[in-house]
Amino acid sequence: MTISNPALNYRSDTLTEFEEQHVRETAGAALRRSGRRSGERVPSPSLLRRLAIEQGLERPRRFRRVLDRPEILRALRSVLQIALRITGLRERGRQNALRPVIRHLRLAFPTLPTAFAGIRILHLSDLHADIPIPLVDRVIERVRGLAVDLCLLTGDYRFEASGSCDRACEAMAKILAAVEAPLGVFGVLGNHDPAEMVGRLGQFGASILVNDTVEIRRGQESIHLVGVDDPHYYGCDDLTSALFGVPREAFKILLAHSPELASEASAARVNLYLCGHTHAGQICLPWIGPMWVNATCPRQFTRGSWKYLKMLGFTSAGVGCSLVPARFHCPPEIAVIELVCPTPG
Ligand SMILES: [Fe+2]
Repeated sequence: MTISNPALNYRSDTLTEFEEQHVRETAGAALRRSGRRSGERVPSPSLLRRLAIEQGLERPRRFRRVLDRPEILRALRSVLQIALRITGLRERGRQNALRPVIRHLRLAFPTLPTAFAGIRILHLSDLHADIPIPLVDRVIERVRGLAVDLCLLTGDYRFEASGSCDRACEAMAKILAAVEAPLGVFGVLGNHDPAEMVGRLGQFGASILVNDTVEIRRGQESIHLVGVDDPHYYGCDDLTSALFGVPREAFKILLAHSPELASEASAARVNLYLCGHTHAGQICLPWIGPMWVNATCPRQFTRGSWKYLKMLGFTSAGVGCSLVPARFHCPPEIAVIELVCPTPG
């Protein structure tokens, strides 16, 4: 099917005419909520495909991962809740989840435009901002007054993966109000976020990139922020579209919810890959590490800083929690990343 509005050019071989109409109307409502006029350029094929998936009209590309099935996640949550109660560790896990740490990183890039040397990025991932513990105030305490130039968000603003996002949006509004980032706030959607969050977070000053790129200029030089839709569950990521018109030699920071696009991003000459999703395990065992990380990629990409060929990457341990509000041996993390040019010699 082809939707007649050129800005909503989306094709599906599976939807019935009734379903096509439903997706088109929902997309129109989403665009109105986001404040975009019909006909204005939007990264619409991805947004529409995501809406069709959210409404159960299409299947997510990566739905076959057993651990992403809602019934499996519900069962896992119950098991974890029971285990925390039986072991008496529930309150300790909750307290651990309420103590975000600030992690400072310094990453050197020979190709970083000199006008951007020393730029400081506040990276927040997996806030799950409507989490049922008083984490938001702790996050606000930590980020308020941080000297940063740019704030980058890598998805999962909502605790649950379905239902209303009102409470998550209210919490995000408070957090973003505490962030001072002169070059702006940019982000992407995660597997817990509905498409309508593009517009709703936009109202609080965050530009959510759905397979799109924004260029940030300083004098004659620039860097490009490239944002792709969730690659983990929805599979609506489209790096090729996101990079359309971006010079191959440009300095590129990729925002993706999960680290699962590392190989593709390296081939596209991305310089820095920022992501989250894994929570670095969230519940880790001493000396052993994470019990599980829900990502289809090598383990070295699922936590902290890493390198893939010439590309540097950072996978945040996340600020919030999913499934249960508890963490062990894996503190919530707020990252401040400074980009520098290598010192000679
Ligand atoms: Fe996620």
